[in-house]
Amino acid sequence: MKLLLLLAVGLDLAWAQQDQSQVPVQQGFSPDQVTRAWKTLNLASTNRSVIEEGGAYRCFMTGIVRLANGNLNVTYFHRKDGKCVKEFIVAEKTDIPGRYTFEYQGKNYLTFVAVTKDFLIMDYENHYEGNTLIVAELHGRTLLSGKLGLVAYLKHTARRGIVAGNIEDVSLDRKELAGVR
Ligand SMILES: *[C@@H]1O[C@H](CO)[C@@H](O)[C@H](O)[C@H]1NC(C)=O
Ligand SMILES: *[C@@H]1O[C@H](CO)[C@@H](O)[C@H](O)[C@H]1NC(C)=O
Repeated sequence: MKLLLLLAVGLDLAWAQQDQSQVPVQQGFSPDQVTRAWKTLNLASTNRSVIEEGGAYRCFMTGIVRLANGNLNVTYFHRKDGKCVKEFIVAEKTDIPGRYTFEYQGKNYLTFVAVTKDFLIMDYENHYEGNTLIVAELHGRTLLSGKLGLVAYLKHTARRGIVAGNIEDVSLDRKELAGVR
């Protein structure tokens, strides 16, 4: 009985790891590298409608703060019913540095794929009612410096099976944030 239980736990773990096996995580990740202000340049998804106007992942990330327990507090601006609202995601750390989880329309895995002083590539894998949705985001320290991440970003979207038509440049959509603090 005990052996069966152990086996089940083992399988569970193997499954949990398998979920994210295609997503590389930044080697030597440290939260200090990402805790600052950011500007969103690109959004991409396996389902285009979620990153289009009004979509659940049509969001602009403006900053990341580290909490005392090691989790991350990520600030997003998101359009809701025609209004731009500020939202916070508390990403809970996992055993793997650079990989976090949180609940938002199902279970989400957040992976910091690439982190440099200029840009940040974030991968969201959402599991909801048996469906898997992938969202990949490119953020820059500034709009200009973020462009340095474009090649690595496009490599990542290709790796995740996101077609070119599902990648949006939102870097000039600052008006969506206008008037919101
Ligand atoms: C894409 O997302 C929209 C909005 O969430 C949803 O209604 C639709 O069913 C999704 N399409 C697929 C193929 O999952
Ligand atoms: C995240 O940051 C916001 C803004 O500072 C704050 O209101 C919120 O309480 C923070 N969340 C947590 C869990 O600390």
